Amino acid sequence: MIKVNVLLGLQWGDEGKGKGVDVLTPDYDVVARFQGGPNAGHSLEFNGMKHVLHLIPSGIFHEQCINIIGNGVVIDPVIFKKEIEGLRALGVKPEKNLKISRKAHMILPFHPLLDAVSETLKGEQKIGSTLKGIAPAYRDKAGRDGLRVGDIELNDFKARYLAARKQYDSVLSSVSDTYNLTEREEIFFKALDTLREFEFIDSEYEVNELIDNNKRILAEGAQGTLLDIDFGSYPFVTSSNTICGGACTGLGIAPHRLGEVIGIAKAYCTRVGAGPFPTELFDDMGQKLREYGREFGSTTGRPRRCGWLDLVALKYVVMLNGVTQIILTKADVMDTFDEVKVCTKYIVNGKETERIPFDITTKIEPVYKTIPGWKTSLSDVRKKEDMPKAFMEYVKFIEDFVKVPVSFVSVGPDRAETVKM
Ligand code: GDP
Ligand code: IMO
Ligand code: MG
Repeated sequence: MIKVNVLLGLQWGDEGKGKGVDVLTPDYDVVARFQGGPNAGHSLEFNGMKHVLHLIPSGIFHEQCINIIGNGVVIDPVIFKKEIEGLRALGVKPEKNLKISRKAHMILPFHPLLDAVSETLKGEQKIGSTLKGIAPAYRDKAGRDGLRVGDIELNDFKARYLAARKQYDSVLSSVSDTYNLTEREEIFFKALDTLREFEFIDSEYEVNELIDNNKRILAEGAQGTLLDIDFGSYPFVTSSNTICGGACTGLGIAPHRLGEVIGIAKAYCTRVGAGPFPTELFDDMGQKLREYGREFGSTTGRPRRCGWLDLVALKYVVMLNGVTQIILTKADVMDTFDEVKVCTKYIVNGKETERIPFDITTKIEPVYKTIPGWKTSLSDVRKKEDMPKAFMEYVKFIEDFVKVPVSFVSVGPDRAETVKM
């Protein structure tokens, strides 16, 4: 039996999942997104073009590949419409190879408003949400008040929408004008027509049939494990399970049908939004990583916080996901550095530990191993044999520490800038 492979982020998102999926897609018949929503921004670059996808799976540029938006995703029809228009402007015909799960929940016009209200009320404690309505949409899903894509096929959809909105009447009455709710609703209902142009599927049946027919499926994650609702630095997390198990619940795949777990990690760390970040750099080095790595959010444009690679955290996420191979990205950003550091231990309350403490307010002092820089440009390297020795030693150190092989090294944003290890 051919198994489903999963590709997911091992840090706080933006590890290069879009590029990773795009590079691997020629080996797959299907790419299926399993969680998250338009909070994601997955960048793809090829033929001199850069494109950012939010809801649509990153296999969309490969015509022969079926792309599925799974039940675990939350879809904003308005953002979906914009994305479709963007793809069509590039000559892509997404109606041919994109299918949507009827069971995927929708982000309703008032969800982003509720996100904004919640963040405002939190003040200094705000999460730094992308304000796309992710938490309110997943909250309504868990609260059994959500509306799903399949609901728009029903005659009483409008009544269902009004019923879903009713529970928030009191909070919305004070902010609906400020946020133009009525206008947002009009745009939303119009955008449903674009959604209707696509094939809605009972994706759990379809995905399992594809597996039975020996089709090769890549499940595409969004965000990263350190933003997982259960295992991230709660409450500074997103609202879905970003770990490998999310592929089971977000697509309807039994665990024994999963195969390779391809984890993608940057050679350093970034985080956008609030929350603990033990290896964060506030000095020149942090500034260099942000500048050389162009670390500004693909969805919100916010500057990303930057710091050294955290191997304590990487080991934790390898454990949670059962990662079988790692794609290491953006090492080229550190090409000019005399030395690079990796965190191998934390000091917590005066004691060394290799575990992430429960209490996120705990002060963590990272212990670093310093590794000599490779001081050569990686960007033109295309073969493992041509990789500088110092860089190979750096990779070996990571592999030995987390006990997982690095299968690819990405040396630039373009599809072609990839080295098989
Ligand atoms: P994703 O959310 O995981 O898909 O990642 P993003 O697209 O949000 O952010 C990754 C950014 O790094 C994008 O701008 C990519 O084009 C870029 N990128 C990906 N891989 C590499 C790499 O190996 N080197 C460099 N310099 N940039 C990369
Ligand atoms: P991709 O798929 C990086 C972060 C937000 C915030 C927290 C909660 O591109 O890697 P939310 O909007 O989900 O309520 O925000 O999670 N966040 C991301 N950070 N990459 C992402 O996606 C993210 N999606 C959400 O910045 O800290
Ligand atoms: Mg991103």
